[in-house]
Amino acid sequence: MTTHLRFATQQSSSVAGEYDLLFWILTAICGIVVLGIAAMIAYSALRYRRRSETELPEQIQGGIKLELTWTIVPLILFMGMFAWGARLYFEIETPPANAAEIYVVGKQWMWKLQHLDGAREINELHVPVGRPVKLIMTSQDVIHSFFVPSFRIKQDVLPGRYTTIWFEATRAGEFHLFCAEYCGAKHSGMIGWIHAMEPRNYQEWVERGAAEGSMSSMGEKMFHQFACANCHHFEGPATCPNLRGLYGRQVQLKDGQIITADETYIRESILDPAAKIVAGYDNVMPNFTGQVSEEQLTQLIAFIKAISPPPGGDQPSSTGSRQPSERTNGIGEPGSSSITGSRPGVR
Ligand code: CUA
Repeated sequence: MTTHLRFATQQSSSVAGEYDLLFWILTAICGIVVLGIAAMIAYSALRYRRRSETELPEQIQGGIKLELTWTIVPLILFMGMFAWGARLYFEIETPPANAAEIYVVGKQWMWKLQHLDGAREINELHVPVGRPVKLIMTSQDVIHSFFVPSFRIKQDVLPGRYTTIWFEATRAGEFHLFCAEYCGAKHSGMIGWIHAMEPRNYQEWVERGAAEGSMSSMGEKMFHQFACANCHHFEGPATCPNLRGLYGRQVQLKDGQIITADETYIRESILDPAAKIVAGYDNVMPNFTGQVSEEQLTQLIAFIKAISPPPGGDQPSSTGSRQPSERTNGIGEPGSSSITGSRPGVR
C-alpha cells in the first residue's frame, strides 16, 4: 500500500470515474458559490458601511438584470447537477440485462455469497474483470449495507426483501468490502474482499472450486424435497398455480391487485402463502416460515427463474426454441446468467 495522500480509494469500476468527476464538480461549484457569497458580503459591508452618525443609508432600487442573472445562472447550474446526478443514479441502480447474478445473504456478522453455478463464498467474492455483475441481496436478521468504496457502490441489505446493485470491475485487484450500516457488536468486523480477476485467472479459479451443483439444481431438489411439485404441476390443471414462466410476469391476485412476480414476491409466497393469493386459487399451501433458510430461499428463487424465460422473451415453454443469447448460460438455464456461462472471448 502506498502512503501518498489520497482523497478516495482508486477508481476500479465502470462508474467510478464519472462518479468522482460529478462529486468534484459539485464540490467545486458549491465552493465557488460559498466563496462568492462570502466575498460579496465582505465587499458590501465595507463599501456600503455607515461612515458617520448623521449619514443616511444609500437607497438602491431596481436592478432587474442583476436579479435575473443571479436567479437564472444558479438555476441552470443546479438543475444541471441534478440531471447529471439523477442520470448517474439510475445507471448505478439499473443492472445491464446481461449481468451475471450473484446472491448475497447478510447476517450478523458475515457476508454469504453464492454464484449461480453453485460456488459459495464467505466474506470473499471472486469476479472477472470487464463483466457486469448483479448482486441480489437480502438479510437474515437486521439491516446491513453492502459497500465497496473502490467501486463507488453502496446498497442497504434488508431482511424480508431483496435489493440489487451492480458493478463492473475495470481492473484486477483486491478491493475492500464493508458493512456500512451499524448492525450490532461486531459490525466493524463484517468486512471482506472482492477479488477482481482477469477472465483467464477467474476461469481457473472456477474450475478449481468443486461446486455441489448449480443454485437452480439445488432449488429444484428442494422443490421436490418439500413436496412443492405435488401441487405445483408443470402440466395440466392443478390446485396450485403453475410456476413455469412465473418470474417477471404480472400476476392477478384474488383481491384484484396486479403485482409483478419478483424475488421478494416469490420469497413471501413461500414463507407466508396467505399474504397474496393468486386469483382463481384458494389458500391451501402450508406456511414455510422457519423451515427454509435465506440461502435455500435464494436457491428456490433461482430455480423458478431458471424455468422462466427472460423478460420480453417468448412463451414460457421448452428452452429449445429460444434464440441463443447471453442470458442463456452454459447449462441451459434461461432467464439467468452465470459468470461462468460460455461467452465469446472467455474460455
Ligand atoms: Cu452488518 Cu454492519
